[in-house]
Amino acid sequence: MLNTRRPRRNRKSEAIRAMVEETIVTPNDLIFPLFLLDGKNQKTEVASMPGIFRLSTDLMLKEIESCLKLGIRAFDIFPAVEDQHKDKFATKSYDPKFFYLQALREVKKQFPEACVMTDVAMDPYSSDGHDGLVKDGKIVNDETLEILGRMALAQAETGIDILGPSDMMDGRVGYLRNILDQNGFTEVSIMSYTAKYASGFYNPFRDALDSAPKFGDKKTYQMNPANRTEALIEAQLDTEEGADFLMVKPALAYLDIIRLLKDNSQLPISAYNVSGEYSMIKAAAQRGWLDGDRAMKETLLSIKRAGADIILTYFAKEFAAGFKH
Ligand code: PBG
Repeated sequence: MLNTRRPRRNRKSEAIRAMVEETIVTPNDLIFPLFLLDGKNQKTEVASMPGIFRLSTDLMLKEIESCLKLGIRAFDIFPAVEDQHKDKFATKSYDPKFFYLQALREVKKQFPEACVMTDVAMDPYSSDGHDGLVKDGKIVNDETLEILGRMALAQAETGIDILGPSDMMDGRVGYLRNILDQNGFTEVSIMSYTAKYASGFYNPFRDALDSAPKFGDKKTYQMNPANRTEALIEAQLDTEEGADFLMVKPALAYLDIIRLLKDNSQLPISAYNVSGEYSMIKAAAQRGWLDGDRAMKETLLSIKRAGADIILTYFAKEFAAGFKH
């Protein structure tokens, strides 16, 4: 005798499948990372990220306008800094005249309704290509905090909405929260890169910003991909220190960590679908090995299903363009 339970009944039509659908991704869930260039009318494709361009401020404003029309309302802006502006102390990161800070001001002026997130870490501005200050071949924690504090304040002064400390120094969330509050920026949020792993999936991003470390690797500050429990320690500290959101990064090889933080925190959880995860799908699709559109949607769905409330993804615009309400 056949079992009377037939789960296939709930899959028999598009209407029923839609009714019983458990997870849905919408443009509201997405943050679009953007790469900023100095100058005017500049647009260069990132070779390892087909469809993703570094843009000068004027063109980025247009890009943001077209994303807003598609329902993408949140942006994470990263600067591509020329070598001549890099130094050991990432000095340009808090120079209010530097193009990144000027551009942030311009974006918030033209699109006050856009949610603008920034990156707090030294690597794009550092001649060493590390997220922290290098002394005698080591990344020094507490001296880095002082630089990150200056950087965060300079970014907050432009009117941005969310700071994204991606550096993984100990104590930086509390340090930044304090400095922000003392300077009247109580409304600026912190999305902490809580469980950021020392990953092989960041390479295309480092191409985009030309920000690869000049020596060594990032294993003394980014987490060991083998570790799970340690993510709970980071989550607890970031929560105590005042983070508004906790992030897991990368996303796909760390879906279990996304679920772990979701089940153990009351804070919204974000996941960064990183550059290498984007490039893998694009490269396979270009060869005709995958249906890129299906692979994109399935990927974003898996990250949301794992427990992410928010997804940072280079697919944001493409996804929104094809999104049907
Ligand atoms: C650096 C930073 C990185 C990314 C975001 N911020 C790279 C790194 O840690 O080396 C990676 C994002 C991506 O790969 O899409 N502070």
